[in-house]
Amino acid sequence: MCGIVGYIGNRECQEILLDGLRRLEYRGYDSAGIAVMQGERVQVRKCAGRIAQLEGLARRNPLSGKMGIGHTRWATHGEPTDLNAHPHQDVKGNIALVHNGIIENHGMLRNYLEKQGCRFVSQTDTEVIAHLIHSLYKGDMLQAIREAMGFLEGSYALAVICESEPDSLYCVRLGSPLVVGMGAGEMFLASDIPAILPHTRDMLFLEDKEIAVLRRDGVRVYDAVGAIRHPSPYHISWDAAAAEKGGYAHFMLKEMMEQPQAVQGTLSAYTGKEGLREMLPGKVERLDFIACGTAYHAGRVGAYYLRQLAGIESAAHIASEYRYCRLFPQTDAGVLAISQSGETADTLAALQKARAMGMQTAALTNTVGSTLDRSVKTTLLTYAGPEIAVASTKAYITQVETLLLLAMDQGRKNGALSGERLGDILNQLGRLPEKMEEVLKKQTPIQHYCDGHMNEKLMFFIGRGVDYALAMEAALKLKEVSYLPCEAYAAGELKHGAIALIEQGTPVFAICTQEELLEKTLSNLRETKARGAETVCICPETMEKRARQEADLVWTVPDSDPLLLPLLIMLPMQLLAYHMAVAKGRDVDKPRNLAKSVTVE
Ligand code: G6P
Repeated sequence: MCGIVGYIGNRECQEILLDGLRRLEYRGYDSAGIAVMQGERVQVRKCAGRIAQLEGLARRNPLSGKMGIGHTRWATHGEPTDLNAHPHQDVKGNIALVHNGIIENHGMLRNYLEKQGCRFVSQTDTEVIAHLIHSLYKGDMLQAIREAMGFLEGSYALAVICESEPDSLYCVRLGSPLVVGMGAGEMFLASDIPAILPHTRDMLFLEDKEIAVLRRDGVRVYDAVGAIRHPSPYHISWDAAAAEKGGYAHFMLKEMMEQPQAVQGTLSAYTGKEGLREMLPGKVERLDFIACGTAYHAGRVGAYYLRQLAGIESAAHIASEYRYCRLFPQTDAGVLAISQSGETADTLAALQKARAMGMQTAALTNTVGSTLDRSVKTTLLTYAGPEIAVASTKAYITQVETLLLLAMDQGRKNGALSGERLGDILNQLGRLPEKMEEVLKKQTPIQHYCDGHMNEKLMFFIGRGVDYALAMEAALKLKEVSYLPCEAYAAGELKHGAIALIEQGTPVFAICTQEELLEKTLSNLRETKARGAETVCICPETMEKRARQEADLVWTVPDSDPLLLPLLIMLPMQLLAYHMAVAKGRDVDKPRNLAKSVTVE
């Protein structure tokens, strides 16, 4: 999804902007641009394609100036062309702005502005904002932006520079994140922390409808009615190196390999001498999860944990569905929003809906200071460090881990879980990172499998109960990074339709972590084999002998408490997706059509 970067200070800013944009590449984009205050004029360089192309353009025709803005665009309104790339300008070219989000009433505003004589050069919703601000500008940009906000419907994070105010960089947000980085004698702006982390770790997060005016020596933040606000800065603990590849071929590989430390770090954060800390205040009768994508799949595992360990009702909901479904509020029910980025628009909206219905709300996120973090009283953080690859791996694993700890805490509080069992799970969790290392070392057979199966037309992942939730995540991972079509099915449901797709040699992976369901799932696997499938069973070592009698191939993970097996079993599934993507020559970290953080509905 689109990215924003901005700078004002005493240094030449072209390289700072380009470097910031490079650090935002992981968000997914199809065009890019920068605008710099050069002398008395705002100058723009922009083009469709990769940052490398923009760099070429900027090197051939460099911009010199100490204030500027930059953008990576992920096309929504209008094709990814040079003209549709940001920054956009008003008719006279006095103003340049970049925008993340979608202006829903852009058609109506465009008609109105065209009647006023504005000539549009792009098909974007963003250009409307440039003309609108220009038409409202009477020598006070703060006022013009405030008035423009009254007309704009939709979501936006905007950064604006203007020739008449060469010492100020303006920005405003509604529903799309913006962070201000505070340096010494220089200020930075970005949609995401990693873009400006090499320059400062002291960050201010803007709230909806706040306008910030950045000058070399400081920032002023105003609320919607113009009153000055004094938000407290956050200090970001991780450094820029954590958001770099560090010798690995891809961020996805690096992030998968970091999972043992991420699990260890998250465990340490929630445990101490006294054992497991309290995760959420009090206890609930029911706890639901709302999330999108991989975080939703983590929520499905979390719901299983809560039912198993705390004996309470729990379900995971897709946030974009939940926000429009009819809800029946329950007293003592809680809703936990799960989001790696803490910025996913549907998840934030679903949380607001739950709150409006009177439910207790909390968040689980990897991103301190994110909109989600700031919109709830209680946040559970995952300590995975920055996740850059679009496909989520370490964030998912730590989400599942934190949900396990949450279920243990609820079970302890309502008496469903004994202290002895709790201690036992914690002990085994302490030994898990070592077992994870062991699994992550065994990549060669997976690599060979991928080399031999890269031309498959379709694959299946099946499982029952929690293993179905794992199958869903395994299939999502594979399709998002390798583009290989695949289906996740509840093992017992396959024969009600999808089994018709099985042909000679179609790979079917069965995920088995639960001893009591092993025979059932193996029998479903046998059904596919009888129709020509090439079957693979993924299970712990204790089940290997039995699995070998049924499956063509068996991949094992070390034995562990069944509750911890989801955390181990997902590793070969992630590696399968990764090596398949490499074998097929895909852009692993930036798969086509996808964005790391989806800040529009
Ligand atoms: C996008 C990403 C997915 C991610 C989902 C939810 O679709 O491509 O990897 O799972 O958003 O993101 P969140 O930041 O809310 O966990």
